[in-house]
This record gives sequence, structure tokens and C-alpha cells, in this order.
Amino acid sequence: MIERAIPFLYLAAAASFVLALKWLSAVSTARRGVIVGIAGMALAVGGTLLRPEIVSYRWIGAAFVAGTVIGVPMALMPMTAVPQRTALSHAFGALAAALVGTAEFYLRAPRIDRVTMGALALEVLLGFLTFTASLMAFGKLQEILPTRPITWRLQNLVNLSLLGLAAGSGVYLVARPEAAWLFPAFACLSLLFGVLLIVPIGGADMPTVISLLNSYAGLSAAAMGFVLDNKLLIVAGALDGSSGFILSVIMCRAMNRSFTNVLFGAFGKVREKDRAAGERSPVRSATAEEAAGILQAAGLVIVVPGYGMAVAQAQHKVRELYDVLTKAGVEVKFAIHPVAGRMPGHMNVLLAEADIPYDRLVEMEEVNSEFPQADVALVLGANDVTNPAARHERTSPIFGMPILDVDKARTVLVVKRSMSPGFAGIENELYHLDRTLMVFGDAKAVVGSIVRELSGGGGN
Ligand code: TAP
Repeated sequence: MIERAIPFLYLAAAASFVLALKWLSAVSTARRGVIVGIAGMALAVGGTLLRPEIVSYRWIGAAFVAGTVIGVPMALMPMTAVPQRTALSHAFGALAAALVGTAEFYLRAPRIDRVTMGALALEVLLGFLTFTASLMAFGKLQEILPTRPITWRLQNLVNLSLLGLAAGSGVYLVARPEAAWLFPAFACLSLLFGVLLIVPIGGADMPTVISLLNSYAGLSAAAMGFVLDNKLLIVAGALDGSSGFILSVIMCRAMNRSFTNVLFGAFGKVREKDRAAGERSPVRSATAEEAAGILQAAGLVIVVPGYGMAVAQAQHKVRELYDVLTKAGVEVKFAIHPVAGRMPGHMNVLLAEADIPYDRLVEMEEVNSEFPQADVALVLGANDVTNPAARHERTSPIFGMPILDVDKARTVLVVKRSMSPGFAGIENELYHLDRTLMVFGDAKAVVGSIVRELSGGGGN
């Protein structure tokens, strides 16, 4: 009787997922999006637990405990580790889909129709390859594995042949589901392809790759929906698959890269030229006190936050700096690059956390025309997104990536700890310009010192 409620619960869950995605696309409504997404998932799980096919809750209870034990520490990972946390979530989601597909194959084959077997083969192929690829992406981002692209001769040919073999086995199984002996080989080829797909991709491209893997995991879940005849899985998988794909496209556009370049471009190798240049070229440096004096005398200051601000967790100090400068009559804006940091919207989230008014945040296309009028561009732990080489150095791995035109401001103050390169592993020529002053130190400590100085507490 109670199972009559299931379609309604599923419908409400599907509607919640759509609304969650809609609200997550703007900072001001994102919190609501998260809550509605959680509610949708609770309805989906609750509805599934009412299904009459369930004969015992024992194993479900055990899985629930295991999921909680793994999930809670994952949820507590720091903000800077969100990309690798997301990679782990995809790995688990994809493994679940692949294992459900495997179980269904052994339960149903050879009495399985071609359409269902086709969906099942797709589910298993995408599920297993996304599982190992996501684990590899996690390892690279966590720096457990080398972050540099690892390449060898004929790599793309070998990888494509492997994918061809895996897909070929899947097609064979669709034609002859009785060939159960082939299934383990099919699963192993998919797992191996996932590993080899990620090895040649550099750490800098991992966020884009993770987003693409998100899309594969979603497609795998949608295929699982066809196998299990579960409409909610089809809807949720399709939403996941398409949103992941759209996000990867947005990221590629923001970096002026193509999918092929991300997947096969071996981006992020430190070039010897850059390593040497970083050690040799002279730069001018300033103290926090000197920086405070320059900022105080400015009419317009554009703050350019980047990954280093996130690492230093400097956003609250930045808010104090904003307050003290605004009070002193200085106009302060924040320049937002679409791929600053390590995840989409990274800077928006941090600055919103520190209650910096949204209307002070200006997107790259708009703010670039304002740099020539800015007295100071204050670069806080941003590197690649400010590198002028992207505009003119054809051999640079970031050539063509739209950047913030920081070098056009009258004075550029760069706050970072050393001359180390950013995530793309290349030297930044901005640091060697006459108008640039490096303020070396942790972003939180340096901004804190500047605020103290501006508030009249310096040296005390
Ligand atoms: P990066 O180029 O990665 O540079 C970050 C800089 O922060 C480093 O040079 C580092 O220099 C500095 N830093 C680290 N810890 C610091 C601290 N505690 N205090 C002060 N500075 C600190 O950052 P970005 O400019 O934000 O660029 C993002 C990169 O990630 C781009 O290459 C982008 O393509 C890539 N990426 C991003 C995304 C998304 S969605 N955001 C997606 C794909 C790729 P020191 O070590 O000298 O301090």
C-alpha cells in the first residue's frame, strides 16, 4: 500500500534536483540550492527504501553505516581540497553504478534483451573507467601521485586501442550475452583505461577532467536507470551528465583550451626555460608597510584574488582591508577570473563567506577595461590568471587563455610567498615589470600587516 507513494516521492526528488541546479548557479541562492538538493536526495533514498522488492534491511543498514563512516570525514575536508573530494565522490558513485551493472549481468544473462544489455554495457564501461580515473585524479590533486603529465611514445594510440578493445568487448556482450567469460575482461579493460586516461594529464587540468568524469558518472547512472527501469535514476543521471559536461565546456572556454588539448595535451610540464628564468630574473620587492602607503594614496584599487588567498584563508583579512580602504575614501573592486583557484566559483565563495558585497565583484570581461584607470592592482596569491605571456607568447602552455589585464594598472602589488610558479608550472613575467612590486609572505599575514598599518597600529 505504502509503495503507492514511491512515484510521488521520486517526482518530488526529481523536481528538487532541477531546482537545486538552478539555485546553485548563483552565489546568492546557492545555499538554498544545497538544502533542496539534500532534501531531494533524502526523498529519493526514502522512496527507494519503500520498494516492495526489499526483503531485508540488514545489508542496506550495513551499507548505510559504511557510507556514513566514509562520508563524514570527506565532508570535513578543507575548502582547498574540494576538487579532490569531488573526485572521490565520483569514484564511489561510478563504482556503485558499475557494481550494480555487474550484479544485474550475472543475475540476468543470458536472458537479457539487447537494449537492456546495451545500457548495461555502457553503465559498466563508464562506471569502471570513471572509478579508476577519478581515483587517479584524486591522487594527482592530493599529490600522492606525480602531478606532472607522464607521457610516452604512442601513448594516445595505445590508449585509444585499449578503449576500442573495451568497447568491442561490450558490443560482443550485447550480441552474445551468454559469453559470460568475457565479462571480467571487459571490466578489467575499462578499469585499466581509466588509469591510463589520467596518467598523461597534468594536475592543472584535473578540475576540468573531474568535471568531465562527473559527466561520465552521470551517464553511467542514467544507463543504470534504463537497466533497472528506474525513471528517477535516468533523470538524476541525465542532469548530472549534462551539468558536468556544460561545466567542463565553460572551464575549457575560460582557459581557451579544447577538450582534445585537455585530454591529450600534457599541459603543466615545467619547462626548463621557466625553471631557470624563475631563479635568475631580478624583481623589486616591498614591505607590507610600503604597500600600505601605496594603497592609501590610491583612488581605485582592484584586488585580484587567486588560489593563494584560498590556501592562506585570507578572505576575512581581505574584508578588513576592504573596510579600512573604503573608509579612507579608496574605491575597491575585486576582479574575478573564471578559473582562479581550483574550482569554479572558488573566489566568489570565499569572498561571499567574508561578506564582501556582491556588487564589488566584477567578472573578467568587465573589469579588464578598468585596469588602465586603476592606481593599484593588488594580486593576492593569483599567478597564472595574471600572466601576460598568455597574450603573446605562442610557445607558452597558457597561450590564448584569457587573463586579467593586471599589468595595465599603474602599480602592481603581488602578494605571494616566493617566486614559485602557479599551477601551470610556468614563470610569470608580470613579476619582472618595472611597475610591479613583490610583497613576499603568506597572504593572510601580509594583508593583516597592511590592515594594521592602515588602521594606525603599525609597528606597535
Ligand atoms: P595559481 O596560478 O595556481 O597560483 C597560486 C599562487 O598562490 C602560487 O604562485 C603560490 O605562490 C601562491 N600561494 C600559495 N599559497 C600562498 C599563501 N599561503 N599566501 C600567498 N600566496 C600563496 O593560481 P591562480 O592564479 O588562481 O590560477 C588557477 C590555476 O588553476 C590556473 O592555472 C587555472 O587554469 C587552473 N585551473 C583552475 C580551475 C578552476 S575551475 N578554478 C580549473 C582548471 C584549472 P607561492 O608558492 O610563491 O606562495
